[in-house]
Amino acid sequence: MRSMHCLSMCLALLPAGTVMADSLPGLSASCTEQAVDNLLGLPPIPDASSPEHLVEKIQLGKTLFFDKRLSADGSISCASCHNPERGFIDGLPRAQGIHRQLGTRNTPTLVNAAIAGTQFWDGRRDSLKSQATDPLFNPIEHAVNDEAQLLHTIRQDIQYVAAFEKVYAASPETLMATQVAQAIAAYERTLVAGNSAFDRYRYGHDKTAHPSQSPSGSDAPGKTDLVAFI
Ligand code: HEC
Repeated sequence: MRSMHCLSMCLALLPAGTVMADSLPGLSASCTEQAVDNLLGLPPIPDASSPEHLVEKIQLGKTLFFDKRLSADGSISCASCHNPERGFIDGLPRAQGIHRQLGTRNTPTLVNAAIAGTQFWDGRRDSLKSQATDPLFNPIEHAVNDEAQLLHTIRQDIQYVAAFEKVYAASPETLMATQVAQAIAAYERTLVAGNSAFDRYRYGHDKTAHPSQSPSGSDAPGKTDLVAFI
């Protein structure tokens, strides 16, 4: 688990859009857990993905996250609301889903969501994996009818079929929605940011860390404090 933590953190240090399988071997070799922990000052990420085909799993999750075909009319992806350009939020008071329907709640950022013990404002899910398919089947978000419809869409894409076979040894017939959720969660675990004065004080036990040291002058991670997003 600790080495997965390290890899996730290393991935997070890559500039936007650079997670590619062939860019990783040298990176993971030069990434020591100590260096990463010192750099980000964050607590360990729970529920680490299994190390098998981790890079491909994260890439698969990222593709699913941005894929509008995983919605009833092809108009909504996770990124429609959790927009990476805006720190994985939408900037709206209440989320706007399919057919411009308004939800009841504000869209939280996914940065460091991996570290939280529970998901959603009311904590009704206990992990990223158990959360990930909820929006897909939510009638005012992605509005996919059911698992059958979701898996049907995925089976139409030969790149998905190849990726699920490689990562989960799943054939189009055995593919499951929980594997879709696992891949998305693996991607979300890479969305980490740290090294704010708060992180160094709270997690790094640096009693000299003070909000005024952070570039934004705030004790919460602000835009200028974020290390990087994938
Ligand atoms: C229509 C906008 C919208 C879409 C699309 C959407 N989300 Fe969200 N997301 C929200 C809102 C709003 C909440 C908070 C809802 C609540 O607390 O009841 C949320 C909460 C979350 C959380 C919990 C974060 C936390 O800190 O509690 C995660 C994780 C998440 N979404 C991931 C996803 C993923 C993965 C997808 C795509 C499969 C997705 N979301 C699609 C709006 C959206």
